Amino acid sequence: MSIQPTILVLGATGKVGNETVRQLKAIGDSRVIAAVRSPEKATQFKDQGIETVILDLDNPETLLPALQGVDRALLLAGYSVDMLRQSKRFIDAASTTGVRHIVHIGASGAPTNEVAHWGWHQLIEAYIERKGFSYTHLRPEAFMQNVTGPGYRWLDGNVIRHYVGNARWSWIDCNDLALVAAHALLEADKYAGQIIPLGYDAKTFDEIAQILSEVVGKPFYAEARSPEEFLENALKAGADEAYMTCVYTQFKLNIAGAIPNADATFDNFEAITGRKATTWREFAQRYKQELDY
Ligand SMILES: NC(=O)c1ccc[n+]([C@@H]2O[C@H](COP(=O)([O-])OP(=O)(O)OC[C@H]3O[C@@H](n4cnc5c(N)ncnc54)[C@H](OP(=O)(O)O)[C@@H]3O)[C@@H](O)[C@H]2O)c1
Repeated sequence: MSIQPTILVLGATGKVGNETVRQLKAIGDSRVIAAVRSPEKATQFKDQGIETVILDLDNPETLLPALQGVDRALLLAGYSVDMLRQSKRFIDAASTTGVRHIVHIGASGAPTNEVAHWGWHQLIEAYIERKGFSYTHLRPEAFMQNVTGPGYRWLDGNVIRHYVGNARWSWIDCNDLALVAAHALLEADKYAGQIIPLGYDAKTFDEIAQILSEVVGKPFYAEARSPEEFLENALKAGADEAYMTCVYTQFKLNIAGAIPNADATFDNFEAITGRKATTWREFAQRYKQELDY
């Protein structure tokens, strides 16, 4: 691989991809290209002097031009069953160009086949391997940003509406995930062939509300609602039915205590990044002003 690899980052306008671009630029040692779906979405990067390319996973004609000269790629897609078709398209196209290493953002590797979208991610991983790429499969647990945003969030004022009863989840700050992705992209040989689970702070929603209360100095509450309400709201808001039905199933299983290792945490972060993973308390401290009401 070249000394200064060219790295293409998909999902660059989203939570994980955007921070990965930022981390890669901050570390240096690579040519970073942010993949965006339209010229309008490129503006934010151009203003920061970051290279962009148009790549729409739903428009196959954009793939080969976007992949020219790319050595390594971060592959991620949105919250939709389209991830299967989109990722296969991307992997097929990349296998005809010079891409050597793919870092994939997957999901929990908890030992169950009942949460279908986790399995979809593993099928994508298997396809990356089958096509002969060097790979690093990242398997993050729940994003802390699900609660706080940016974008869609479960926190409404001082109430966290959630759908998993007393289940304790394993959590990760998206920025920590992006930092691991950046290392896996930059040190491709070191992380080649690895499956890396990421989840560093196990908390129930009541425990999270307690932490937010202590950090902000005002009360926060967790309000358990039904998975049915989640699904109804998600569909009303136009979210993808297939994906959201998987999430609904996950919540039902969480409530029944039927997902083994839902609260599993891992001790790999410091060795990869050189610092400790963000805890819920540190995350709340970082967003203290935004969380205040
Ligand atoms: N939330 C969690 O707790 C959690 C946990 C584990 C794993 N994950 C996984 O994380 C991934 C999502 O990451 P995220 O939260 O960073 O996503 P996000 O913030 O929703 O952003 C999605 C990104 O994908 C881009 N995108 C969507 N459709 C595209 C298309 N057709 N072509 C090219 N790009 C497209 C979006 O571009 P636009 O700006 O143009 O829309 C955006 O940049 C999913 O695979 C999910 O399964 C999430």
